[in-house]
Amino acid sequence: MTWFMVAVVVVVAAAGLLRWRRPARYWLTFGVVVATVRILVRYASGMDACGLTVPPSRWRLALARVANRPVPDSRVPRILRLRPTRTGLVLRLKLRPGQDAFDVSAATDRLRHSFGMYGVTSREVRSGVVEVRMTGYDVLKQVQMPAKTEERPMRVPVALREDGSVHYRDYRAVPHGLTLGATESGKSVYQRNLVAGLAPMDVALVGIDCKQGVELFPLARRFSALADNPDTALELLEALVEHMGEVYQLIRAEQRISVAVPDAEIAADIWDLPDDIRPVPVVVLVDEVAELALFASREEEKRRDRIITALVRLAQLGRAAGIYLEICGQRFGSELGKGITMLRAQLTGRTAHRVNDETSANMAFGDISPDAVLAAIQIPAETRGIAIAGDSTGGWHRIRAPHTSLRQAVNICNKYADRTPDVPALEAYRPAVAVLPSARVPLSKTAPATA
Ligand SMILES: Nc1ncnc2c1ncn2[C@@H]1O[C@H](COP(=O)(O)OP(=O)(O)OP(=O)(O)O)[C@@H](O)[C@H]1O
Ligand SMILES: [Mg+2]
Repeated sequence: MTWFMVAVVVVVAAAGLLRWRRPARYWLTFGVVVATVRILVRYASGMDACGLTVPPSRWRLALARVANRPVPDSRVPRILRLRPTRTGLVLRLKLRPGQDAFDVSAATDRLRHSFGMYGVTSREVRSGVVEVRMTGYDVLKQVQMPAKTEERPMRVPVALREDGSVHYRDYRAVPHGLTLGATESGKSVYQRNLVAGLAPMDVALVGIDCKQGVELFPLARRFSALADNPDTALELLEALVEHMGEVYQLIRAEQRISVAVPDAEIAADIWDLPDDIRPVPVVVLVDEVAELALFASREEEKRRDRIITALVRLAQLGRAAGIYLEICGQRFGSELGKGITMLRAQLTGRTAHRVNDETSANMAFGDISPDAVLAAIQIPAETRGIAIAGDSTGGWHRIRAPHTSLRQAVNICNKYADRTPDVPALEAYRPAVAVLPSARVPLSKTAPATA
């Protein structure tokens, strides 16, 4: 008996310790069983307390009256399936007549408390069937991506959502993206995760990093072209526009469309071409975009106008030619001058890290969802990397990318360096990848552009 008691105490202490220090492991060992039992036991009373029951139907009342039996209880949604996942539980419910998916989504916070879960979200699967996703612990506190994710061309598993599912950046569904956030909010780490996710794929990476290249130049071995100042950025973007023209010519030649057909009417894209002649898709990553839009002199203003024009053209026409834009910045609004709001309108995928004011959040979500604006402002300053991401259906999610260090990203890029394709139009901007000289340079000079 004493040994039994000691064993129980040890197991309980181990579970408590695990729950405190390693919530993900606790969930997989004890948590999932405890939560499943708790939900099954408390289900009827919990649903009743959350107002998710309907009164008995007329025929059941009539039957009870005829049989002289007590009045039947209210009915709860029927459980179709209860599935454990790596981070929580997924409950599929069949709603009763008179209930709708909104009833469940409005009660998610109450369900969270009733079932003792960390987070609860719901979505309608089909008419009358609702999926309730529950997480057992704060999955965004220390992000661990699942070892296996769905693989599809041009789709990068970039972050984890608060409901425990994987957030993908799908370039074929949402070609261009905008990532906003105050300084030190996690934009560059998010972009680094994208680069690490794209590195093993058949894609050419092009980077423009006006922070003197500190974020992207260390990853140079996997980049087909890089620019670290607005002058080179302009040349690079104009070369990309030229490349886009060549790709359109190729598509047109392959389709054998006559010259009389205007460019805008060509509906095909590179993915319709046979594998052997398909040009490699290009992802253009721009960090600190405001640097490209600011100017101090007339000359710089001309350069700025040409840069923005090239970006707008790439955003408008690039998708079919397999050119995708991924733009990062602290703010991206009309105060940066003409053409900016036009460019922003083309950037469908929106991600906002912590922002300091409502106007910045509005730049990402003002035209999409007022709820998302509010959620972006509420991101606490101490949890860097948390962001609000819009999805293609008009909804939004709280996400966080794993904390990939620059060293890890460099290793991944070096590992896949041989996959770096040559894009003839961008050959002149291919970064030199010699070993960095270790000598320190005086602050007044700029370090050479090497990796
Ligand atoms: N997903 C994350 N998980 C954990 N920590 C993160 C995450 N993202 C960012 N951080 C932390 O925040 C710091 C700043 O992140 P990052 O450099 O990406 O910010 P930023 O938004 O690019 O800032 P700036 O605008 O100044 O370039 C990182 O060094 C890292 O310590
Ligand atoms: Mg940054």
